Amino acid sequence: MPSSLTIAGFFAGIGGIEEGFHKEGASSVFFCEKDERARTVLQSHFPGVPIAGDIQDVISIPKVDIITAGFPCQDLSQAGLKKGIGGTQSGLVQHLFRIIDSIEKSARPEWIVIENVSYMISLDSGNAIKYLTGELERLGYSWGYRIVDARAFGVPQRRLRLLLVAARHADVREVLFSQNIEDPPVDDTIGNVDNAGYYGFYWTEGKRGLGWTVDGVPTLKIGSKIGIPSPPAIWIPKEDFFGTPDIRDSERLQGFEIDWTLPTMSLPKAKQGDRWHLVGNAVCVNMSRWLASQIISPGQYHPSLEKEIHRKKWPKAAYGYKGKVFEVSVSTWPVCTQGEPLHNFLNFPLKPLSHKGMNGFYTRAVNSELINYPNCFIGSMEKYLKDIEGGTYEFSE
Ligand SMILES: C[S@@+](CC[C@H](N)C(=O)[O-])C[C@H]1O[C@@H](n2cnc3c(N)ncnc32)[C@H](O)[C@@H]1O
Repeated sequence: MPSSLTIAGFFAGIGGIEEGFHKEGASSVFFCEKDERARTVLQSHFPGVPIAGDIQDVISIPKVDIITAGFPCQDLSQAGLKKGIGGTQSGLVQHLFRIIDSIEKSARPEWIVIENVSYMISLDSGNAIKYLTGELERLGYSWGYRIVDARAFGVPQRRLRLLLVAARHADVREVLFSQNIEDPPVDDTIGNVDNAGYYGFYWTEGKRGLGWTVDGVPTLKIGSKIGIPSPPAIWIPKEDFFGTPDIRDSERLQGFEIDWTLPTMSLPKAKQGDRWHLVGNAVCVNMSRWLASQIISPGQYHPSLEKEIHRKKWPKAAYGYKGKVFEVSVSTWPVCTQGEPLHNFLNFPLKPLSHKGMNGFYTRAVNSELINYPNCFIGSMEKYLKDIEGGTYEFSE
């Protein structure tokens, strides 16, 4: 059933949340995004929709059904600054609540959709999620959240994200928890190597935080502060090859059409790293599309999945209202959408990993006491390094 829901998208980036909702028939009537690189992409894909800049300057918004917000996670993520919800970046979310507060109660949007890193539930003893849910309740909403994996929605990228949904009247449990795969079909054990598969990992690591993903890539990230992209590496065992994905495949791994971020290259001084930054920051479109379809057509919820808790530790899925919190026993896979595994998914050639990059990773890996690498992986790296030294691969730049 096509939907006529209207959206105001805050911290909209390149529109990952909104694009998923559009695919289910909703339409954006307002964006707020400060970064010019992202604004250029939004203008190109959502022509005519007004885009406000800094959220701190927003006084009012059009009347809408849904507010979306994937607020900056630099202060929350494990890889980021860990300052928590009071940090200068993540603290910007308070302006979202200021804006909703300024709307007369009966005219407030029915739905608020917030997305962020899964680590938010544990950072600073859960103060971030406590703050968010407290504010939502103060503004008259019940809420639910669930940590979900992008792989559940048909893309070979392991990307765990927290989806927080609040509603004024509707039952958020029917949106977030009515679908569930009890035993997701994934096993990312490192020793588990099938010669036909592809394996993703962070080549910048080696001793810990490897991100090993069987026939998929680990979470795409934004790269360094100075705009140097660091896409994950992909190992092809049967070819003894190590490379990184093309930006266009990375857009696809996030559920976008290829060249979604190309418009940003029209800006003066644009760099390829800008595209990587925007893609790594985005919400996976497949994930938000699932959420949109659930909001439009909620399913049946089984209360037997829930139990009231007293918040010593925030669970992976919960819902609450008026100060009560209930843990919900669901997995990170609401559905198991058939998608291509990585070895069939990629459309563009991989860029060979440089000798410096491979050798650095190799040295860390063989000296790692924490990770037990399989011999075939170590041997494959040695073969790849020899191939590079023998001139098998060409390197541009
Ligand atoms: C995690 S990203 C959101 C990504 C987005 N959901 C997407 O799919 O691309 C956070 C966004 O907040 C934007 N942002 C940061 N500070 C802002 C501010 N003061 N006002 C408006 N947007 C801001 C950043 O530029 C960034 O694009």
